[in-house]
Order: sequence, then C-alpha cells, then structure tokens
Amino acid sequence: MDQDQTCRAAEALFADWLGGHALMSNARHLRGSAWLNFPRVACSNWRDGKVILLGDAAHTAHFSIGSGTKLAFEDAIRLAETLTEADDLDAGLAAYEAERRIEVLKLQSAARNSTEWFETVDRYVGLAPLQFTYSLLTRSQRVSHENLRLRDGPFLTGVERWFAANAGAPSTDNPPPPMFAPLKLRGLTLPNRVVVSPMCMYSAEDGLVGDFHLVHLGRRALGGAGLVFTEMTDVSADARITPGCAGMYRPEHRDAWKRIVDFVHGQGSRIAIQLAHAGRKGSVERPWGPRADKPLKDGWALIAPSPLPWSEEDQTPREMTRADMDRVRDAFVQATRWADEAGFDMVELHCAHGYLLSSFLTPVSNHRTDDYGGSVENRLRFPLEVFAAMRAVWPVDRPMSVRLSATDWVDEGLTPEDSVAIARAFALAGCDLNDVSAGSTTPEAQPIYGRMFQTPFSDRIRNEAGVATMAVGNIYETDHVNSILAAGRADLCALARPHLADPNWSLRAAAELGWRGQMPPVQYLAGFGQLARNLEKQQQAGPV
Ligand SMILES: Cc1cc2nc3c(=O)[nH]c(=O)nc-3n(C[C@H](O)[C@H](O)[C@H](O)COP(=O)(O)OP(=O)(O)OC[C@H]3O[C@@H](n4cnc5c(N)ncnc54)[C@H](O)[C@@H]3O)c2cc1C
Ligand SMILES: Cc1cc2nc3c(=O)[nH]c(=O)nc-3n(C[C@H](O)[C@H](O)[C@H](O)COP(=O)(O)O)c2cc1C
Repeated sequence: MDQDQTCRAAEALFADWLGGHALMSNARHLRGSAWLNFPRVACSNWRDGKVILLGDAAHTAHFSIGSGTKLAFEDAIRLAETLTEADDLDAGLAAYEAERRIEVLKLQSAARNSTEWFETVDRYVGLAPLQFTYSLLTRSQRVSHENLRLRDGPFLTGVERWFAANAGAPSTDNPPPPMFAPLKLRGLTLPNRVVVSPMCMYSAEDGLVGDFHLVHLGRRALGGAGLVFTEMTDVSADARITPGCAGMYRPEHRDAWKRIVDFVHGQGSRIAIQLAHAGRKGSVERPWGPRADKPLKDGWALIAPSPLPWSEEDQTPREMTRADMDRVRDAFVQATRWADEAGFDMVELHCAHGYLLSSFLTPVSNHRTDDYGGSVENRLRFPLEVFAAMRAVWPVDRPMSVRLSATDWVDEGLTPEDSVAIARAFALAGCDLNDVSAGSTTPEAQPIYGRMFQTPFSDRIRNEAGVATMAVGNIYETDHVNSILAAGRADLCALARPHLADPNWSLRAAAELGWRGQMPPVQYLAGFGQLARNLEKQQQAGPV
C-alpha cells in the first residue's frame, strides 16, 4: 500500500471523526518517503571538560514513545538545578550525568519494547480489537494495568469485562481483575490465573515425599493460587538431580503424593505434577551445605543425548542408546499412570533448564548425528515421543503442559523460531499449555534479567504458534500479572520465589485489589477481612 492509499484507508476508518476532512501524507512535502531510519544514540560519556551533552546528542529514544522532547527538556532542567545546587562545576556536571543516565536508561528500555511491538505487530493482528488496543497502549511496559485505570477507568473496566466474558466468568457490572478470571483447559477449570511454579525442595527420602511436602504444598493451596505445581518429580532413581529430589518411581510414591493431592483438593484447589529426568545435570549434592551442587561421591551413572558433561568437574554422561530411550520413555509413562491414580489434575513434561529432554531440544547439548540430532525436527523427536506416550495414558479430559527453555541465552543456541516450532509440535501432539521458561541449559548462558524478563518469549510463542502459554520469571506484582494477561502475552502467570516469601500471595493480591470474589479459607476469614479493611483505609488516606 502506498502512502496515498494508506491515507484513503485511514480516512474511511476514521470518517466519523474527520467530519469530511481529508488526510494528508507528509511524503508530499518531503518529496519522497517519510520513512526515517531511527539512529539509536547511547553515549558512554556525556561530558568533556566544560562541554556537556544533553537531549538527542547524548541519547535517543525511539519516536514511537514520543519522549525525545521530554527527555531533552528534563535534561536541561536538571542540569540547571544541579549546577545551582553543587559547590563546584565538576560536581554539578557529575550529579547531572549520574541522575539523568538512570532516567534515560528506563525510557530507552521502554522505547526498545515499543519499537519491537511495532516491528512484530503481525503477531498481534489476530487479537480482539479491545485486547489489541490494550496491547498497543501497554507496549512499552511503562503503562501498566493500574496505570491505565488512572488514565481511562471506563476503558479498563471494558477490557476487564471483555476478558472475564471471554474466560467464561459470569457477566456482572463488577468484572474480576484478569488474574482472578477462570481458565478452562480441557475438563479442568482453574478458578484463577496465578500458579505456584514448580520448585525443588530437595527434602524427599529416596524419592518419597512426606510431611514437609504436605505442609509446603498444602500451605500454598490454602493461599489462593489457582493451580499449585509440585516440584520437578523424577521418573526413576537415576533420573534425580540430588538424593533429596522427589520421585514417582515406586507405588509408595504414588500413595504419598495422593495424600497431598487429596489435601489440596479438599481446599478447593488444583494441583499439577511436573515429571522429569535430570539427564546430565543429575547425581549431585543438594544446593546447600559445603559441597552444594558438587558431584556425588557415590552417585549414579548419567545419560544424555551426547557425552558432554555439564561442567568440567561434573560426571561425563553416556550417550543414550535406543534401548535407553525406551527405558526412559516407559518410566515417564509409568509415572504418568501413577499420577493419574494419585488424582493429579494436570501433568507437565519438563523439557526445560538443561535436564534430559531439554538437552535433546537444544543444540548446545545435543551433538548427535542420528535421527535424534541436527535439525529441530530431529532434536524434537525423542521429547515428542515421550510426550505422545504419556498423552496416550493420561485421561483425555485432563490437560497436559510442557515446560520449555525458549532460549539458551547464547548465540549458538536455540533460536526463537525453534521454540515457536517446538511449541507448535507439542500442541499438535495434544499439549494444552506451554510453560515458557528460559535458560539453565548451559553454564555459558548470559541471561538478560529484569522484571518479567522471560515474558517476551511467552508472548512470541502464544501469538505466533497460537497456543496457550504460562509466563514465568520475575513476575512479582499484581500489576505485572494483570498486565501480562490482559495484553494477551500469556494465559497464566507462574510465580516461584514470591510464593516462597508469601504463601498467601493470591489472597493478599485480592485484598489489595479490593476483589471479593476470591474467598480465603473459612478458617482464615477474620484475618483477610481485617487486611482488606486496613488496605482500603491506607488507599483512602493516600501516600504518606
Ligand atoms: C519524525 C520525528 C518525530 C518525533 N516525534 C516526537 C514526539 O512525538 N514527541 C517527542 O517528545 N519527541 C519526538 N521526536 C524527538 C524530538 O524531536 C527530539 O528528541 C528533540 O527535538 C531533541 O531535542 P534536542 O534539543 O536534543 O535536539 P534538536 O531538537 O535536534 O536540536 C538540536 C539543534 O541544534 C542545531 N545544530 C546542530 N548542529 C549545530 C551546530 N554545529 N551549530 C549550531 N547549531 C547546531 C540543530 O539545527 C537543532 O536546531 C521526534 C523526532 C522525529 C525526527
Ligand atoms: C527454589 C527453587 C526451585 C526450583 N525448582 C524448579 C523445578 O523443580 N522445576 C522447574 O521447572 N523450575 C524450578 N525452578 C524455577 C521456577 O519454577 C521459576 O521458573 C523461576 O524461579 C523463575 O520464577 P520466579 O522469578 O517467580 O522465581 C525453581 C526455582 C526456585 C527458586
């Protein structure tokens, strides 16, 4: 479409507002295309003697967040202030640069998010118009859910009403915040979208979970999360990371898990089990104590797609034969049967973080030259075979998920296209949810941390592969969760460390948001009634 055609199309779209006026392209004045390449400037030094840089000369932020003028003015204002406040010129200039750098960095990061949104807008065109608008407005990640409420309350309520209706929540004038909307996966309905992420506790005895696990998982079920995940639960004794890892490889394990599942169900919660094989990352000490993470002195032999140790001091695994693959696949199938008998609501296949199946998926640890290495299709072959065998024995009305490491955080690793293809392949094999994590596949990884830092991978997989996803990784505020869900960047949000710090994370979030639809256990009503009243008073009083 050329610029004139774009103007005519936009005129038709905005006819009600244009009142008969025509739209004009600036291409005519510029005698050519108005397209500009954006120069991204980030000077490492803003001053030299008495010469000082400000505005675009020091830094730029992409046009799409329209902040260049603001930044330039703020630089100038702050420069004037610091020079007045400081005792000497050098101290004033240093203070100016130190302060402004941080503010500029935040805006440059927002501008990068915004640019990427426009560059990948194809991904979002399938969203419903209201969600597309929300996604556009929150694209820089600086405008959050609650921030949008302040800017345009009726719009935000409209989004929440749309989201709730789409989720199958009863229609009311007071829709739930997105995190408290239900989610249906096959025959399972989760009451809300907050998930306790899988977390190894290294506290089992020969794979057997006990009172610690009952209290630990039970406590989190009482805390209001829509779904509680078990820790990585290994399908054979030699599939464990450490001697303290939980297992599902003996009938006693099934019975011990059943006690926990029954308790969680008794609280009206849902519980999923994450089944795994540690591969080359196995046979090490628990991650605490003087020999934390060191190879066990009397451990077990390791297997992996290729004979590559995790690190120089770790045991070198044996390259898996087809017979090893059969044995591992059958162990996953048996564990899935027991998970069904124990009453779990969902099974997750752990294909992330460099454990056995993840190490097949990524080229950093899979150097095979047979049908199980090389192209992404080949690397997928064994993990998919395991998944399909599990799916065949897992009840049809219950969902299954797969946890993926969507990037290795190294140049020669898994590509974003690979992870979309992998998610698609699992979905075709009957996977209902992609639990999108990242990294831990090689010690060489260079992750880029930040709040919600892995959510872009979930966003890409969900909106390019067209599959349901769960985002995870440094999501810790109610506003993070609501913004991710409402923008269609994920269908669920998993929180790990926040749930270690506060088992009541979801109940507290409901109290903070003034949402009465998420009831605490009757035994705890008095406590949460008081919390809700106190938070309301604090809000009315405003900031101190
Ligand atoms: C297409 C476009 C759209 C934009 N949209 C927005 C928006 O919506 N909102 C927003 O906030 N920002 C926007 N910006 C960014 C904004 O215009 C700039 O960030 C802002 O003008 C930077 O201010 P400045 O004073 O640092 O630089 P400038 O405004 O570029 O000023 C630098 C001045 O120095 C002069 N100069 C250069 N060299 C010399 C020299 N050797 N001697 C003397 N003078 C010299 C130049 O002629 C110029 O007048 C947009 C920019 C572009 C290009
Ligand atoms: C103590 C601990 C144990 C973990 N164990 C597992 C695990 O068993 N399986 C898994 O997939 N991820 C595991 N993880 C990763 C978390 O599930 C989660 O992806 C990660 O901590 C990022 O989320 P967060 O920022 O909310 O903590 C663990 C994390 C922690 C902190």
